[in-house]
Amino acid sequence: MVLPRSHALWAGARSFDEYAGEFRTTAASGWGKRRFRTLGLRIGGELVASCKRYERVLRCGERTFAAAGIGAVYTPAELRGRGYATALLGAFLDAERDAGTDLAYLFSDIHPAFYARLGFVALPSRTIALRADLLPGERVTVVALGDGDAAAIRRVFDALDARRPFAFARTPLEWDWQRLRAGSSEHPGQVLRLGVRRGRGLAAYVTGRRVPLADAFVLDEFAFARDEDAGTLAPLLRAAAGDLRTIRGWLPPAVARDPLPRGAVRARTSAIAMLLPLSAAFRAAFRARPLERRAPADPCWSTDHI
Ligand SMILES: CC(C)(COP(=O)(O)OP(=O)(O)OC[C@H]1O[C@@H](n2cnc3c(N)ncnc32)[C@H](O)[C@@H]1OP(=O)(O)O)[C@@H](O)C(=O)NCCC(=O)NCCS
Repeated sequence: MVLPRSHALWAGARSFDEYAGEFRTTAASGWGKRRFRTLGLRIGGELVASCKRYERVLRCGERTFAAAGIGAVYTPAELRGRGYATALLGAFLDAERDAGTDLAYLFSDIHPAFYARLGFVALPSRTIALRADLLPGERVTVVALGDGDAAAIRRVFDALDARRPFAFARTPLEWDWQRLRAGSSEHPGQVLRLGVRRGRGLAAYVTGRRVPLADAFVLDEFAFARDEDAGTLAPLLRAAAGDLRTIRGWLPPAVARDPLPRGAVRARTSAIAMLLPLSAAFRAAFRARPLERRAPADPCWSTDHI
Protein backbone atom coordinates (compact mmCIF):
# COMPACT_ATOMS: atom_id res chain seq x y z
CA MET A 1 0.00 0.00 0.00
CA VAL A 2 1.36 3.41 -1.00
CA LEU A 3 -0.38 5.64 1.55
CA PRO A 4 1.90 4.91 4.56
CA ARG A 5 4.85 5.99 2.43
CA SER A 6 3.31 8.89 0.51
CA HIS A 7 1.85 10.32 3.72
CA ALA A 8 5.09 12.18 4.48
CA LEU A 9 4.93 13.85 1.05
CA TRP A 10 1.28 14.66 0.54
CA ALA A 11 -0.67 14.58 3.81
CA GLY A 12 -0.12 18.29 4.45
CA ALA A 13 -1.64 19.21 7.84
CA ARG A 14 -3.38 15.80 8.13
CA SER A 15 -2.46 12.91 10.43
CA PHE A 16 -1.99 9.55 8.72
CA ASP A 17 -5.49 8.44 9.80
CA GLU A 18 -7.04 11.61 8.38
CA TYR A 19 -5.05 11.27 5.15
CA ALA A 20 -6.00 7.62 4.67
CA GLY A 21 -9.62 8.28 5.74
CA GLU A 22 -10.03 11.10 3.23
CA PHE A 23 -8.53 8.92 0.50
CA ARG A 24 -11.06 6.16 1.24
CA THR A 25 -13.98 8.61 1.38
CA THR A 26 -12.93 10.17 -1.92
CA ALA A 27 -12.47 6.79 -3.64
CA ALA A 28 -15.85 5.55 -2.36
CA SER A 29 -17.76 8.72 -3.35
CA GLY A 30 -19.96 8.88 -6.45
CA TRP A 31 -17.30 11.04 -8.08
CA GLY A 32 -14.51 8.69 -6.98
CA LYS A 33 -16.20 5.59 -8.38
CA ARG A 34 -16.75 7.17 -11.77
CA ARG A 35 -13.89 9.59 -12.26
CA PHE A 36 -10.96 8.44 -10.12
CA ARG A 37 -8.64 5.43 -10.10
CA THR A 38 -5.26 4.46 -8.71
CA LEU A 39 -2.87 2.65 -11.02
CA GLY A 40 0.32 0.79 -10.31
CA LEU A 41 3.16 -1.00 -11.99
CA ARG A 42 4.04 -4.35 -10.42
CA ILE A 43 7.15 -6.36 -11.01
CA GLY A 44 7.19 -9.86 -9.55
CA GLY A 45 4.25 -8.93 -7.31
CA GLU A 46 6.00 -5.86 -5.94
CA LEU A 47 4.44 -2.43 -6.48
CA VAL A 48 7.28 -0.39 -7.99
CA ALA A 49 5.43 2.77 -9.14
CA SER A 50 1.93 4.21 -8.78
CA CYS A 51 -0.20 7.18 -9.76
CA LYS A 52 -3.76 8.45 -9.72
CA ARG A 53 -5.99 8.92 -12.74
CA TYR A 54 -8.66 11.64 -12.86
CA GLU A 55 -11.22 11.83 -15.63
CA ARG A 56 -12.44 15.19 -16.80
CA VAL A 57 -13.91 16.90 -19.84
CA LEU A 58 -12.20 19.95 -21.28
CA ARG A 59 -14.38 22.37 -23.21
CA CYS A 60 -12.67 24.46 -25.90
CA GLY A 61 -15.17 26.81 -27.48
CA GLU A 62 -18.02 24.64 -28.68
CA ARG A 63 -16.04 21.40 -28.61
CA THR A 64 -15.38 19.03 -25.75
CA PHE A 65 -12.39 16.76 -25.25
CA ALA A 66 -11.85 13.75 -22.98
CA ALA A 67 -9.02 14.51 -20.53
CA ALA A 68 -7.10 12.15 -18.25
CA GLY A 69 -5.42 13.80 -15.27
CA ILE A 70 -2.38 12.25 -13.65
CA GLY A 71 -1.63 12.79 -9.97
CA ALA A 72 0.58 11.48 -7.18
CA VAL A 73 3.23 9.80 -9.34
CA TYR A 74 5.28 7.82 -6.86
CA THR A 75 8.16 5.33 -6.76
CA PRO A 76 9.44 4.09 -3.38
CA ALA A 77 12.74 5.81 -2.57
CA GLU A 78 14.86 2.65 -2.79
CA LEU A 79 13.51 1.83 -6.27
CA ARG A 80 13.98 5.21 -7.92
CA GLY A 81 16.12 5.87 -10.98
CA ARG A 82 15.34 2.52 -12.62
CA GLY A 83 12.75 3.83 -15.08
CA TYR A 84 9.69 2.56 -13.20
CA ALA A 85 7.74 5.85 -13.13
CA THR A 86 8.59 6.49 -16.78
CA ALA A 87 7.41 2.98 -17.69
CA LEU A 88 4.16 3.41 -15.73
CA LEU A 89 3.43 6.77 -17.37
CA GLY A 90 4.33 5.42 -20.81
CA ALA A 91 1.87 2.54 -20.37
CA PHE A 92 -0.73 4.99 -19.00
CA LEU A 93 -0.43 7.25 -22.06
CA ASP A 94 -0.51 4.31 -24.50
CA ALA A 95 -3.71 3.04 -22.89
CA GLU A 96 -5.27 6.52 -23.04
CA ARG A 97 -4.39 6.91 -26.72
CA ASP A 98 -5.93 3.51 -27.46
CA ALA A 99 -9.07 4.42 -25.52
CA GLY A 100 -9.51 7.64 -27.52
CA THR A 101 -8.65 10.09 -24.75
CA ASP A 102 -7.86 13.49 -26.27
CA LEU A 103 -5.29 14.81 -23.79
CA ALA A 104 -3.43 14.06 -20.59
CA TYR A 105 -2.66 16.71 -17.99
CA LEU A 106 -0.93 17.00 -14.62
CA PHE A 107 0.48 19.50 -12.13
CA SER A 108 4.18 18.89 -11.64
CA ASP A 109 5.78 19.34 -8.24
CA ILE A 110 9.17 18.29 -9.58
CA HIS A 111 11.30 19.72 -12.34
CA PRO A 112 9.02 19.70 -15.41
CA ALA A 113 11.86 18.16 -17.47
CA PHE A 114 10.82 14.73 -16.17
CA TYR A 115 7.38 15.03 -17.79
CA ALA A 116 8.67 17.01 -20.79
CA ARG A 117 10.65 13.88 -21.75
CA LEU A 118 7.30 12.13 -22.16
CA GLY A 119 6.03 14.95 -24.38
CA PHE A 120 4.20 17.11 -21.83
CA VAL A 121 4.24 20.88 -22.40
CA ALA A 122 4.32 23.32 -19.46
CA LEU A 123 1.45 25.85 -19.37
CA PRO A 124 1.48 29.27 -17.69
CA SER A 125 1.45 28.57 -13.93
CA ARG A 126 1.64 31.62 -11.70
CA THR A 127 0.55 33.02 -8.37
CA ILE A 128 -0.87 36.43 -7.60
CA ALA A 129 -0.60 38.33 -4.33
CA LEU A 130 -2.61 41.44 -3.48
CA ARG A 131 -2.43 43.75 -0.48
CA ALA A 132 -5.87 43.59 1.10
CA ASP A 133 -5.80 47.17 2.36
CA LEU A 134 -5.10 48.53 -1.13
CA LEU A 135 -8.27 47.03 -2.58
CA PRO A 136 -11.10 49.51 -3.12
CA GLY A 137 -13.62 49.08 -0.32
CA GLU A 138 -16.85 49.88 -2.11
CA ARG A 139 -19.98 49.65 -0.06
CA VAL A 140 -21.55 46.32 -0.79
CA THR A 141 -23.08 43.94 1.69
CA VAL A 142 -21.00 40.79 1.93
CA VAL A 143 -22.65 37.72 3.42
CA ALA A 144 -21.42 34.29 4.49
CA LEU A 145 -22.84 31.62 2.20
CA GLY A 146 -24.06 28.26 3.45
CA ASP A 147 -25.07 24.89 2.03
CA GLY A 148 -28.41 26.37 0.99
CA ASP A 149 -26.56 28.62 -1.48
CA ALA A 150 -25.00 25.72 -3.39
CA ALA A 151 -27.37 26.01 -6.38
CA ALA A 152 -26.89 29.79 -6.59
CA ILE A 153 -23.09 29.36 -6.45
CA ARG A 154 -23.29 26.86 -9.32
CA ARG A 155 -25.36 29.26 -11.40
CA VAL A 156 -22.85 32.09 -10.92
CA PHE A 157 -19.92 29.76 -11.63
CA ASP A 158 -21.63 28.51 -14.82
CA ALA A 159 -22.37 32.05 -16.01
CA LEU A 160 -18.69 33.02 -15.83
CA ASP A 161 -17.49 29.63 -17.04
CA ALA A 162 -19.58 29.88 -20.21
CA ARG A 163 -17.64 33.01 -21.16
CA ARG A 164 -14.24 31.38 -20.81
CA PRO A 165 -12.62 30.28 -24.10
CA PHE A 166 -11.77 26.88 -22.57
CA ALA A 167 -12.38 25.27 -19.20
CA PHE A 168 -12.73 21.92 -17.46
CA ALA A 169 -16.44 21.15 -17.39
CA ARG A 170 -17.88 21.14 -13.89
CA THR A 171 -20.72 18.62 -13.72
CA PRO A 172 -22.77 17.80 -10.58
CA LEU A 173 -20.28 14.97 -9.91
CA GLU A 174 -17.40 17.45 -9.89
CA TRP A 175 -19.31 19.75 -7.57
CA ASP A 176 -19.51 16.80 -5.16
CA TRP A 177 -15.76 16.35 -5.51
CA GLN A 178 -15.29 20.07 -4.74
CA ARG A 179 -17.46 19.66 -1.64
CA LEU A 180 -15.30 16.76 -0.44
CA ARG A 181 -12.15 18.78 -1.06
CA ALA A 182 -13.47 21.82 0.80
CA GLY A 183 -14.08 19.53 3.80
CA SER A 184 -10.49 18.23 3.74
CA SER A 185 -8.11 19.18 6.52
CA GLU A 186 -5.10 19.00 4.16
CA HIS A 187 -4.54 22.74 4.26
CA PRO A 188 -4.56 24.78 7.45
CA GLY A 189 -6.98 27.65 7.84
CA GLN A 190 -10.65 28.42 8.08
CA VAL A 191 -12.69 27.73 4.93
CA LEU A 192 -14.64 30.77 3.80
CA ARG A 193 -17.49 31.15 1.30
CA LEU A 194 -18.63 34.74 0.89
CA GLY A 195 -21.08 36.28 -1.51
CA VAL A 196 -22.90 39.41 -2.59
CA ARG A 197 -26.62 38.93 -3.16
CA ARG A 198 -28.70 40.53 -5.85
CA GLY A 199 -32.38 40.28 -5.02
CA ARG A 200 -32.97 36.63 -4.18
CA GLY A 201 -30.05 35.51 -6.34
CA LEU A 202 -26.29 35.79 -6.09
CA ALA A 203 -24.24 38.43 -7.93
CA ALA A 204 -20.79 37.06 -7.01
CA TYR A 205 -18.99 34.71 -4.62
CA VAL A 206 -15.49 33.94 -3.45
CA THR A 207 -14.11 30.80 -1.76
CA GLY A 208 -10.80 30.21 -0.02
CA ARG A 209 -9.18 29.89 3.38
CA ARG A 210 -8.18 32.41 6.00
CA VAL A 211 -4.71 31.47 7.22
CA PRO A 212 -3.75 33.80 10.09
CA LEU A 213 -0.33 32.11 10.49
CA ALA A 214 0.52 33.20 6.94
CA ASP A 215 -1.30 36.53 7.42
CA ALA A 216 -3.18 35.70 4.23
CA PHE A 217 -6.48 34.81 2.66
CA VAL A 218 -5.69 31.98 0.24
CA LEU A 219 -8.04 32.26 -2.71
CA ASP A 220 -9.54 29.15 -4.30
CA GLU A 221 -11.96 30.60 -6.84
CA PHE A 222 -14.53 33.28 -7.46
CA ALA A 223 -17.17 34.11 -10.01
CA PHE A 224 -19.51 36.94 -10.89
CA ALA A 225 -22.76 36.54 -12.78
CA ARG A 226 -22.57 39.55 -15.10
CA ASP A 227 -19.97 42.16 -16.06
CA GLU A 228 -21.64 44.77 -13.87
CA ASP A 229 -21.17 42.43 -10.88
CA ALA A 230 -17.39 42.29 -11.36
CA GLY A 231 -17.06 45.44 -9.24
CA THR A 232 -18.14 43.47 -6.17
CA LEU A 233 -15.03 41.31 -6.41
CA ALA A 234 -12.58 43.69 -4.73
CA PRO A 235 -14.83 44.35 -1.70
CA LEU A 236 -15.57 40.61 -1.49
CA LEU A 237 -11.86 39.79 -1.37
CA ARG A 238 -11.25 42.56 1.09
CA ALA A 239 -13.96 41.20 3.35
CA ALA A 240 -12.52 37.67 2.99
CA ALA A 241 -9.11 38.93 4.10
CA GLY A 242 -10.56 40.88 7.05
CA ASP A 243 -7.59 41.87 9.19
CA LEU A 244 -5.17 39.68 7.20
CA ARG A 245 -2.61 41.54 5.12
CA THR A 246 -2.46 39.56 1.87
CA ILE A 247 -4.73 37.84 -0.59
CA ARG A 248 -2.92 35.21 -2.60
CA GLY A 249 -3.63 32.26 -4.83
CA TRP A 250 -3.18 30.94 -8.34
CA LEU A 251 -3.47 33.53 -11.08
CA PRO A 252 -7.12 33.13 -12.17
CA PRO A 253 -8.10 32.01 -15.67
CA ALA A 254 -9.24 34.26 -18.51
CA VAL A 255 -12.33 36.43 -17.96
CA ALA A 256 -12.04 35.99 -14.18
CA ARG A 257 -8.56 37.55 -14.15
CA ASP A 258 -9.70 40.78 -15.84
CA PRO A 259 -11.37 42.55 -12.88
CA LEU A 260 -8.55 41.68 -10.45
CA PRO A 261 -6.02 44.45 -9.76
CA ARG A 262 -2.59 43.70 -11.25
CA GLY A 263 -0.97 42.51 -8.00
CA ALA A 264 2.41 40.78 -7.68
CA VAL A 265 2.43 37.94 -10.22
CA ARG A 266 5.12 35.26 -9.96
CA ALA A 267 5.86 31.92 -11.61
CA ARG A 268 4.89 28.96 -9.44
CA THR A 269 7.66 26.60 -8.41
CA SER A 270 5.26 23.73 -7.76
CA ALA A 271 1.97 22.53 -9.26
CA ILE A 272 3.16 23.51 -12.73
CA ALA A 273 0.35 22.76 -15.16
CA MET A 274 1.40 20.47 -18.02
CA LEU A 275 -0.50 19.03 -20.92
CA LEU A 276 0.05 16.37 -23.58
CA PRO A 277 -2.22 16.27 -26.64
CA LEU A 278 -3.06 12.65 -27.50
CA SER A 279 -5.61 12.85 -30.31
CA ALA A 280 -5.23 14.58 -33.67
CA ALA A 281 -8.41 16.59 -32.96
CA PHE A 282 -7.08 18.00 -29.71
CA ARG A 283 -3.61 18.58 -31.18
CA ALA A 284 -5.23 20.78 -33.83
CA ALA A 285 -7.34 22.66 -31.26
CA PHE A 286 -4.30 23.18 -29.03
CA ARG A 287 -2.23 24.50 -31.92
CA ALA A 288 -4.97 26.96 -32.79
CA ARG A 289 -5.03 28.35 -29.25
CA PRO A 290 -1.46 28.58 -28.01
CA LEU A 291 -1.16 29.08 -24.28
CA GLU A 292 1.74 31.42 -23.95
CA ARG A 293 3.74 31.87 -20.83
CA ARG A 294 3.12 35.59 -21.05
CA ALA A 295 -0.65 35.23 -21.49
CA PRO A 296 -2.44 37.59 -19.09
CA ALA A 297 -4.34 34.74 -17.41
CA ASP A 298 -3.59 31.14 -16.42
CA PRO A 299 -5.41 28.11 -17.85
CA CYS A 300 -7.32 26.90 -14.78
CA TRP A 301 -8.42 27.46 -11.20
CA SER A 302 -6.49 26.04 -8.25
CA THR A 303 -9.67 24.03 -7.60
CA ASP A 304 -8.80 22.06 -10.76
CA HIS A 305 -5.53 20.96 -9.16
CA ILE A 306 -5.17 17.19 -8.76
C1 LIG B 1 9.53 11.50 -9.43
C2 LIG B 1 9.55 10.02 -9.21
C3 LIG B 1 8.13 9.47 -9.34
C4 LIG B 1 10.40 9.39 -10.29
O1 LIG B 1 10.33 7.97 -10.13
P1 LIG B 1 11.42 7.00 -10.77
O2 LIG B 1 10.82 5.64 -10.85
O3 LIG B 1 12.72 7.16 -10.08
O4 LIG B 1 11.53 7.64 -12.22
P2 LIG B 1 12.35 7.05 -13.45
O5 LIG B 1 13.34 6.04 -12.98
O6 LIG B 1 11.40 6.67 -14.52
O7 LIG B 1 13.07 8.33 -13.94
C5 LIG B 1 14.17 8.76 -13.17
C6 LIG B 1 14.44 10.13 -13.57
O8 LIG B 1 13.48 10.96 -12.98
C7 LIG B 1 14.03 12.23 -12.93
N1 LIG B 1 13.65 12.82 -11.66
C8 LIG B 1 13.55 12.27 -10.45
N2 LIG B 1 13.23 13.21 -9.55
C9 LIG B 1 13.14 14.34 -10.22
C10 LIG B 1 12.87 15.66 -9.88
N3 LIG B 1 12.63 16.03 -8.61
N4 LIG B 1 12.84 16.59 -10.86
C11 LIG B 1 13.09 16.25 -12.15
N5 LIG B 1 13.39 15.03 -12.53
C12 LIG B 1 13.40 14.10 -11.57
C13 LIG B 1 15.54 12.11 -13.03
O9 LIG B 1 15.92 12.69 -14.27
C14 LIG B 1 15.76 10.66 -13.07
O10 LIG B 1 16.74 10.34 -13.98
P3 LIG B 1 18.17 9.95 -13.43
O11 LIG B 1 17.96 8.80 -12.47
O12 LIG B 1 18.88 9.56 -14.67
O13 LIG B 1 18.70 11.17 -12.79
C15 LIG B 1 10.14 9.62 -7.84
O14 LIG B 1 11.36 10.31 -7.69
C16 LIG B 1 9.24 9.94 -6.65
O15 LIG B 1 8.40 9.12 -6.27
N6 LIG B 1 9.41 11.12 -6.04
C17 LIG B 1 8.61 11.51 -4.90
C18 LIG B 1 7.19 11.81 -5.30
C19 LIG B 1 7.09 12.94 -6.28
O16 LIG B 1 7.63 14.01 -6.08
N7 LIG B 1 6.34 12.67 -7.36
C20 LIG B 1 6.13 13.61 -8.44
C21 LIG B 1 4.95 14.45 -8.14
S1 LIG B 1 4.62 15.59 -9.47
